[in-house]
Amino acid sequence: MNFKRNTAELLSALTGIDVPTLLPLIEVPPKRDMGDFAFPCFSLAKTLRKAPPVIAQDIAGRFPLQDGIARVEAVSGYVNVFLDAEAVARETLRSVASAGSRYGASDEGQGRVVCMDYSSINIAKPFHIGHLSSTVIGHSLYRIYGFLGYKPIGINHLGDWGTQFGKLIVAFQRWGDKDAIEAGGIKELLTIYVRFHDEAEKDDALNDEARAAFKRIEDGDPEALTLFQWFKDITLRDVGKIYDVLGIVFDSYAGESFYNDKMDRVVDELEKSGLLVLDQGAWVVNFPEKDHMPPCLVRKADGASLYITRDIAAALYRKEHYDFYKSLYIVAYQQNLHFKQLFRVVGMMGYDWAKDMEHVAFGMVSIEEGTLSTRSGRVLFLQDVFEKATEKALELIEEKSPDLENKREVAAQIGVGALVYGTLSASRIKDINFSWDRTLNFEGETGPYCQYTHARACSVLRKAETLPAEVDYAELSDDYAQALIKLIAAFPEAVQRACAENEPFVVTRAVTEIAQAYNKFYFEQRILDAPPSTRAARLALTDAARQTIANGLYLIGIAAPERM
Ligand code: ARG
Repeated sequence: MNFKRNTAELLSALTGIDVPTLLPLIEVPPKRDMGDFAFPCFSLAKTLRKAPPVIAQDIAGRFPLQDGIARVEAVSGYVNVFLDAEAVARETLRSVASAGSRYGASDEGQGRVVCMDYSSINIAKPFHIGHLSSTVIGHSLYRIYGFLGYKPIGINHLGDWGTQFGKLIVAFQRWGDKDAIEAGGIKELLTIYVRFHDEAEKDDALNDEARAAFKRIEDGDPEALTLFQWFKDITLRDVGKIYDVLGIVFDSYAGESFYNDKMDRVVDELEKSGLLVLDQGAWVVNFPEKDHMPPCLVRKADGASLYITRDIAAALYRKEHYDFYKSLYIVAYQQNLHFKQLFRVVGMMGYDWAKDMEHVAFGMVSIEEGTLSTRSGRVLFLQDVFEKATEKALELIEEKSPDLENKREVAAQIGVGALVYGTLSASRIKDINFSWDRTLNFEGETGPYCQYTHARACSVLRKAETLPAEVDYAELSDDYAQALIKLIAAFPEAVQRACAENEPFVVTRAVTEIAQAYNKFYFEQRILDAPPSTRAARLALTDAARQTIANGLYLIGIAAPERM
């Protein structure tokens, strides 16, 4: 049973306000003696032409005491609802136990496809920390949507087109060493790419060569295509290691080059609908004045297409191929204008589903070593960041539990968990500054802290050996147990909200609060050595906390080791 919803339904019957409007108005008071839920009556004063305390009195007086509601009080304009602690404990623990790893899941999205363009790395360029956000946020949304019954389609819209491939071919043919690249991967590709730039500064003819080489790819020259494919394979092999660590699988790797033969149609359509305008030899789409957007260039004078041309083709392809309900683009906010233009152009082409596309933007990530940029030459490879995180986690484990069996594996889970948590610990639009000490701490709001709490609950349950068959839920009426139970009960709502707002951070928050509440409960109450009936109930609560934390960590893409 959803107590908040139930309270909203009862309130709805008394006030005539519909449940969706009421739900966000219901507050959770800071102190338990103010009730489990509070409904402020101030906003009703105008329509009802009565003072808020009078309205509150009236509602409280008529409130039915049923479905786990113990009593209702009116206090200075608020209706305070007190739940029956035993009923709350019973309903919550039973639903966690029966749903297990599906606790918080639903089928609200049944039959709805959601395309998610995320990670979307650039070939032969390092996967940098900025791509980490897209990857981590996208992966979490992928799991959240899947958990709620949607059919997510993960698309890695590879940046696999452009003149840089001509440069790479020239660089490889002049200075490249096949074995070195096979062994060194992206880093080695980047080395010859940087060399190309250095040498081209002295000798401009190299740039012409690169253009000619790219033209050979465009014209389908077999040798050029083989090299191009090889650069892609090398990049994907390297990046694949990171995806493996994170547990990510994409449904499609259709990148920019995939749309090469799908853009003429876009240009034709734009032309037929009279949207295409010739501007200094190039083809552009102009926006109405009120949009305040610069024109969108779709075909250059030399006939070349652009990033946005490929995105228009991709949008049409995704709609036709997947018939999406929603199509999300998890991309940094620097590309705000690009996506505004994209959605607008598709809308102007007459596709009403343009409204179903959404830019899920996020802020900048910097790591204490300094902000990262490829140009400054101070590139931080994600692979190295993961390794560093794992090393640091290993140091922590050596200190805390030197006897742990699979130290390396757990260290990787903690290190990666710390990075993922760091990325999802604030609303996605905020800029994030990574600090190793803060991120890899077992205390405070961190990934390792949540993982550690989960392992702690597992350890309690291991020591108990068996879970109780019978539980007297009245044993869970104390403040610590009740605070924890309420957070567990609110978990499904957090998952729904994360989905509705495309904000995995809402789940991170929920998991963190449950972990904090479990730790308080664990330190304040005896569990294993409590009297039998109390022990049984507290073990059942420990199990519910363990399960909910595990589900939450899964949804943000973090492993939940049982020992650490
Ligand atoms: N490859 C691009 C980048 O690294 C991101 C692509 C995002 N997806 C898209 N459909 N435009 O900036």
